Amino acid sequence: PGPPRDSFFLGHSPTMLRLMKNNLLMYDHFLGWVQKYGPVVRINGLHRVIILVVSPEAVKELLMSPKYSKDKFYDVIANMFGVRFMGKGLVTDRDYDHWHKQRRIMDPAFSRTYLMGLMGPFNEKAEELMEKLMEKADGKCEIKMHDMLSRLTLDVIGKVAFGMELNSLNDDLTPFPKAISLVMKGIVEMRNPMVRYSLAKRGFIRKVQESIRLLRQTGKECIERRQKQIQDGEEIPVDILTQILKGAAMEEECDPEILLDNFVTFFIAGQETTANQLSFVVMELGRNPEILEKAQAEIDEVIGSKRDIEYEDLGKLQYLSQVLKETLRLYPTAPGTSRGLTEDMVIDGVKVPENVTIMLNSYIMGRMEQYYSDPLTFNPDRFSPDAPKPYYSYFPFSLGPRSCIGQVFSQMEAKVVMAKLLQRYEFELAEGQSFKILDTGTLRPLDGVICRLRPRTSKK
Ligand code: HEM
Repeated sequence: PGPPRDSFFLGHSPTMLRLMKNNLLMYDHFLGWVQKYGPVVRINGLHRVIILVVSPEAVKELLMSPKYSKDKFYDVIANMFGVRFMGKGLVTDRDYDHWHKQRRIMDPAFSRTYLMGLMGPFNEKAEELMEKLMEKADGKCEIKMHDMLSRLTLDVIGKVAFGMELNSLNDDLTPFPKAISLVMKGIVEMRNPMVRYSLAKRGFIRKVQESIRLLRQTGKECIERRQKQIQDGEEIPVDILTQILKGAAMEEECDPEILLDNFVTFFIAGQETTANQLSFVVMELGRNPEILEKAQAEIDEVIGSKRDIEYEDLGKLQYLSQVLKETLRLYPTAPGTSRGLTEDMVIDGVKVPENVTIMLNSYIMGRMEQYYSDPLTFNPDRFSPDAPKPYYSYFPFSLGPRSCIGQVFSQMEAKVVMAKLLQRYEFELAEGQSFKILDTGTLRPLDGVICRLRPRTSKK
């Protein structure tokens, strides 16, 4: 089942291009199709058929079983514009056995027990943001929170994962953050397969290629420096890289190119996703004063006026956790994933042929009345401990073996940042801004959440 194509050759691409051009979210349009045609909808892209599936049973089967591999689309970001980009890093590796070997090495570095020891750098970077915001917190100055939060999340990955000081919160960006930003633009452009043939885009493509080389070169220097430090028995920082290198050393072979693929992967997978989530949290708290008040009261109770947030505090911030989860229901910043079928499959009574791409989408399912009552209302109580758990309709970090390795990392970071922000500032959303969502590969607030801040004193 599915809507009639716009044209035999172009399929539904003209509709998609029109939506993108007008900053309208494709997934809202697809939600309309699901409501009209049912839980399995055929969408014709330029040269591939995509089957959008919103059935919880199918989500469970396709994500929880290692049998279904990621589809060919991931090859497009493995090499971007002819340059090795995320290569065979964790996100793009489609060879299950190879991926599994890597994941075994990396999992300990992202475990809760290991990350507990990294509260220091999380606090340090969040504190730098608070100081930067203080310069503008006069109740009048309008601050684009998304911009500040993106700079922060970049600094956090740099420091917590690789012991790098990127100083992105400074007004003038250094080459590394600039390169990340250009590469992210490249990912957006890549979605239009015609871009690489466009003469007008040649200059842009060259800059993206140069940026990828710069990222990989920086990664190479960072990894080699650390390896030397380890060899020389010098004191080494406690961070994700050290832990990964220790794990990799235990394997017989450790391909330096794959280490670099993962260096790039962590920046790409972990920066915008977290910055966007934090921006949507600020946006929803600004729009819902009672929820904001409740979140502030919890911070006053648990954190009071102390500066350093400890790991034990995070578990006590129950309401803040609910706010973070509800934000990702309405705004899953990485909205979905896809799988390739190697054999025919019947989904909710519809026969789906092999070799098509299945699209699973947490954004669409998160907004369906079948799964959530009053779905467009922001209500953190949906995630209170005694509320029923959503059944395979909520997967902002994906699920199963290929789920996000950075889930704990990102939510620890988000909690530390939000706890400090709520402790220190009253914020008010500037009038006249749009709260629409922009799809740039990840979902982000179109106008960047413009706020006015004033210092706040803890009520405890
Ligand atoms: C995978 C979401 C933060 C690293 C994924 C996937 C999703 C996701 C949906 C599955 C992607 C797919 O199937 O194509 C998010 C969200 C985040 C976040 C919403 C923040 C709010 C992070 C952070 C890191 C990270 C901070 C690293 C520092 C990864 C990696 C994978 C992944 C390496 C691939 C895992 C694998 O296949 O083994 N993430 N992510 N993510 N994420 Fe995250």
